[in-house]
Amino acid sequence: MNGRDLVRSVKLVGSKRGLRTVRSAWRRVRADARALPSRGPERARVPGPVTGAEPGPGGGVVRFARSELRIRVAVGGAVFWGWDGAEPLPSYALPREAPGADPRAVLEPGTDGGWQVVSERLTVAVSRHGAVELRTPGGVVLRRELPPRWWEPVGGGDARWVQRSEVPADARFFGLGGRASGPRLRDGSYGLWNTDPGGRFGPGDDPLYLTMPVQVVVSDAGTHLVFHDNSWSGRVSLREGKEGAGSGHDRPGMSEVRMDGGPLRCWVVAGTPARVLAGWSALTGAAVVPPSWALGPQHARWGFGSEREVRRVAAGYRERGLALSALHLDIDHFDGHRVFTVDRERFPDLPGLAKELREDGVRLVSIVDPAVAAVAGDEVHDSGRAVGAAGAFVRDARGRVVRGEVWPGACVYPDFTDPDVRAWWGGLYEERLARGFSGVWHDMNEPVSFTPFGDPSLPRSARHALEGRGGDHREAHNVYGLAMARAGYEGLARLRPDERPFLFSRSGWAGMQRYGGTWSGDVATGWPGLRASLALVLGLGLCGVPYSGPDVGGFDGSPSPELYLRWFQLGAYLPLFRTHAAIDAGRREPWEFGPVVLAGAREVLEERERLRPYWVTLARLARLTGAPYVRPLWWSTPGDRALRDCEDAYLLGDALLVAPVLEPGVSERAVRLPPGRWYDTVSGAVYEGPGQVVVEAPLSRVPVLARAGAVIPVRGADGGVELEVWAPVVGRGGGGTVVGDAGDGWEPVTVERYTTRLVDGRVVVERDGEEGRVERPVRVRGV
Ligand code: NOJ
Repeated sequence: MNGRDLVRSVKLVGSKRGLRTVRSAWRRVRADARALPSRGPERARVPGPVTGAEPGPGGGVVRFARSELRIRVAVGGAVFWGWDGAEPLPSYALPREAPGADPRAVLEPGTDGGWQVVSERLTVAVSRHGAVELRTPGGVVLRRELPPRWWEPVGGGDARWVQRSEVPADARFFGLGGRASGPRLRDGSYGLWNTDPGGRFGPGDDPLYLTMPVQVVVSDAGTHLVFHDNSWSGRVSLREGKEGAGSGHDRPGMSEVRMDGGPLRCWVVAGTPARVLAGWSALTGAAVVPPSWALGPQHARWGFGSEREVRRVAAGYRERGLALSALHLDIDHFDGHRVFTVDRERFPDLPGLAKELREDGVRLVSIVDPAVAAVAGDEVHDSGRAVGAAGAFVRDARGRVVRGEVWPGACVYPDFTDPDVRAWWGGLYEERLARGFSGVWHDMNEPVSFTPFGDPSLPRSARHALEGRGGDHREAHNVYGLAMARAGYEGLARLRPDERPFLFSRSGWAGMQRYGGTWSGDVATGWPGLRASLALVLGLGLCGVPYSGPDVGGFDGSPSPELYLRWFQLGAYLPLFRTHAAIDAGRREPWEFGPVVLAGAREVLEERERLRPYWVTLARLARLTGAPYVRPLWWSTPGDRALRDCEDAYLLGDALLVAPVLEPGVSERAVRLPPGRWYDTVSGAVYEGPGQVVVEAPLSRVPVLARAGAVIPVRGADGGVELEVWAPVVGRGGGGTVVGDAGDGWEPVTVERYTTRLVDGRVVVERDGEEGRVERPVRVRGV
C-alpha cells in the first residue's frame, strides 16, 4: 500500500460508503485478474539490421530484420514516424484526419547504410539499427531516438515497449500535460495515467488528472515538441544533461518513454516556440474561444447548499462593486448527488435564479460528473440503458455493466468512446440549459471510482467501443475525459447553436483544446500549491491547452489572508480566474479576509476587467496561432538559458510580463527580464533586459511589466476599447494586435494590427493596411 492508498483507506474506513468501496475495489481486482492474466514469459525484440527501404508519400518505409519504420513528413512540417506498421490514424489527438504528406520530402540513402528524409524544417536520419536522429536544417542534432525495444508476451498479446532518446546537454524539458512540479520538468519519473490524487495535491504528487505524452524540449539547438501518440499507461523518465565545461564531454539529456502497450508512433514539430505551438495546434486542432464572459472573474463553491446562499454571495460581490462573471454550482445542488438533477427543496427555481443573476451580468455554470447513479428509475440511468443494443454504460469482459463508487453511491459509466453514447450524453445537456446554466464544468472524469486501495478508476479490463474498433480501459482510460468533453461540446453546440459552448474539464488528453479548457483540480492550500498553480497553467499551455487556471485560494483548508491575496493576484492574470474550495474548507470570497485583502482584490479585479479586451484578443490569438495566453519567459528567446530556468514569472501574450509573488513576507522580488525595455505598469519604473532586476511587490499588488512598444487593447472609461501604448525604444518600434469581441456567438471578428515607433521623441501609432488611420482612442504611457 503506498501513501496515497493509506490516506484513501483511512478516509473511507467508517464512512457509509466504506464497505461499498471495498467491495467495488475487489470487483475491480477480480475482473482484471480474470480478464488480464499476468503477462508470463516475454520475448524482447529490437528492430535489428536494416534490410531495405521503400519510398512513399512524404518519406517512406525503412525495413529492418524484425520491424519496419514508416516516416512521413506532413504539409506544415510536422514529422510522423511509426514502428511495426503504425499509421497516424486512428488517433484521439488528431481532429479528424491526419495532415497530407509533403510531396517534397523523399526517402533517400543516408550515411553508413542508413536512410534519411530531408524536409524544410527537419532532417530525419535513420541509422542501420533503427536509431532516428532529428537534425535542424543547419545539421545540429535536436534529438536522437535510440532503437526501440519491445517485450512481447510469448503467448501473444500486447507488447510493451521503451524508447530512449538523447537531447542536447543544455536542453530543458516541459509539458507532459498538467504537472504540479513543473513547469521545468526536472530529473524524475512522470506517470502517464490520468489520476485523481484524492482530496488535494501538492508539487510532489504525480500523476494528476490530465497527463499527455507531449514533451516540449528547449535547447540552444532549437525547440521541438515530441508527441508519442499512445493513450496507454506509461511512464516518462527524464534526466537533464550536463555540459562538460569546455572539456567537450557533454552528457546528453535523456528521455525514456515506457508504455504498457499500444503503438509506437511519434509526431515531432520543430522551430521557434511560436512555430512549434502553431504546428501542434494545426495537428491537433485549434483551441475553442471561450465566450467572452468566461474571461471574467468567476466564483465556485462546493457547498453553496441553497439558492439563498448563492444569492447572498452574488449580493456580496454586487454590493461591494466587485466584478463577477459567473457562479459555479457544485454537486451539492444535485438531488442525491445525481448528475442532471436538481435538489428541488434547496434549489426550487434555478431558471428564476439564473435569470435574476443574468440581469446582473452573472452566469451560472454547472458541474457535470460522468458517473450515473446505478438506480433503476433514475432518468439518466434508464435512458442510458436504452442507447443502442447494449446500452451506454461500460461493461466488463464478461459483458456485465461495470459498477464503481462515486458521490451518488453505486454508479455506472457512460462509454464516451462510442459515438452513439456521445450523442445521447450531449442531448442530456438540454436539461442543464433549461435550468438556466450557461456552461459546464466536467469533473471526476479520469474517470474516478473511489477505492480504499489501488487505482481509483475502472478495471483495466473494462471494455470500450473505441469508435467501433473495440478495446479495453488500458487504451480508453486516458482519453475518457477528452471523449466526454467532445460529447459535451458537441451537445451544447447542437442544442444552443448561436452561442459558443463553455466547457472546462478536469481530465483530458492531447487535443483537449478543441472542446474546452481545464483547471488545476484540488490544489492544496499553501504556498507550494500556489507555485504548482502556475506550473500547471504554463505546462498545459505548452501542450496546446491554453485555457486553464487554479482553484484560487487552494481547494482545502483556509489560506492566510496574505496567501489568499497572492493567489487572487496570480489568478487574475491566468485565463480561467476562479475562486473555489471544498465543502469543508474556509471561505473564499474576497471580503472574508479583512479590509486590506478586499482592497487588494478589488484593485486586481478592476485591472482584470480593464484588460478584458486584451484577454479577448489572447483567446482569439490562441485559436488562430496556437500560442497560449500564458507563455514561459523564454517564448521569444529560447536561446536565453537563464530564462529557460526561470519558473516564477511569465509572459501574458506579447505585451505583459507577470511576476507573481509566490512566497510569504515579500515586498519586492527579483525578476528575470527577456531582452528589451520593460515598464513597471504601476510605478512606471523603466528596466532594461536581458538581466535580473528587483521590482516592488507590496502586498497590495502583483508586479506586471509592459514591453516597450506594446499596443494593448483595454477597456476605456466609457466601456469602449482603447489602445494603451507603451513608448517604444528609439529605432526599435513595436506593435500589437487587437481582435474584436464577438461576445458569446460565432460572428466573424476583425483583426487589427498596429505598429508604433518613436519619431522625434513622439510616439506614433499606425494601423496596418488602413492607411495608418487609428480610429480608437490612444493613451501613451511610459514617456
Ligand atoms: C472534485 C473536484 O476537483 C472539486 O473541484 C469539486 O468541488 C469536488 N470534486 C466535488 O464535486
